Amino acid sequence: VIPEGYDIHELTAADAPGLAAAYRRNREHLEPWEPAREEDFFTDEGQAAAVDTQLVAVGNGLVVAWVLTHGDLVVGRVNLNNLIMGVLRSASVGYWVDADHQGRGLASGAVEFVCAQAQGRGLHRVEAGTLLDNDASQRVLERCGFEYYGTAPRFLFIRGAWQDHRLYQRILHDRPLTPG
Ligand SMILES: CC(C)(COP(=O)(O)OP(=O)(O)OC[C@H]1O[C@@H](n2cnc3c(N)ncnc32)[C@H](O)[C@@H]1OP(=O)(O)O)[C@@H](O)C(=O)NCCC(=O)NCCS
Repeated sequence: VIPEGYDIHELTAADAPGLAAAYRRNREHLEPWEPAREEDFFTDEGQAAAVDTQLVAVGNGLVVAWVLTHGDLVVGRVNLNNLIMGVLRSASVGYWVDADHQGRGLASGAVEFVCAQAQGRGLHRVEAGTLLDNDASQRVLERCGFEYYGTAPRFLFIRGAWQDHRLYQRILHDRPLTPG
C-alpha cells in the first residue's frame, strides 16, 4: 500500500521537470547507489531527453516506469526493467526515494504495488540486486517477500567499478503457462 499523502502514476513526458528537480535535490543521496550521471542529467532539458528514451523502452514493452509524488513534488521512482516474456516471464525492479521522505514505507509500498502490476502483466518472477552494503534496500526487499538467492560477483557498474551484488527474487505465483 502506498502510504497516505503519496501517489504513484505511470511516467509521462510531463514528469521531466519534476524529476530533474528531484535528482538535483537528491544528488548526494543517490550518488553512492546509482550509475554515474552526466551533468546534463540534472537539467530540465537533459531529463526531458532521458524520459523520452525511457518512454521508447516503455513503448517497446521492455520497461514499465512509475513516478512517486507528494503533492506537486516528485519524491521517488520505481521501475520494472528488462521485461522478458517467453518461459522466463521476469523483470528487474529498481527504485529510489527522496532523502526527506525515507522511512515512511514509501519504497516498500511502491515495490508491493509493482509486484501486483507485474503479476497482472503476466510475469512469474520479479528480481532485484543490491550493493552488499545497501541495508535499507535489502530490508525493503525482505519486507516485500523477496528471497535472497546468491551474490553475483562484479555484477553492475556503480561508483566507477564493477560491483558485487546481492540478488533477490520473488516468485509471484505457481500457475502454469498456458500454451500459445
Ligand atoms: C532504499 C530506499 C529506496 C528505501 O526507501 P524508504 O521509503 O525509506 O523505505 P521503507 O520506508 O519502505 O523501508 C525502509 C526499511 O529499511 C530500514 N532501513 C532504513 N535504513 C536502514 C539502514 N541503514 N540499515 C538497515 N535498515 C534500514 C527501515 O527501518 C525500514 O525497515 P522497517 O520498516 O522494517 O523498519 C531509500 O533509502 C533510497 O532511495 N536509497 C537510495 C537509492 C537506493 O538505494 N535504491 C535501491 C537500489 S537497489
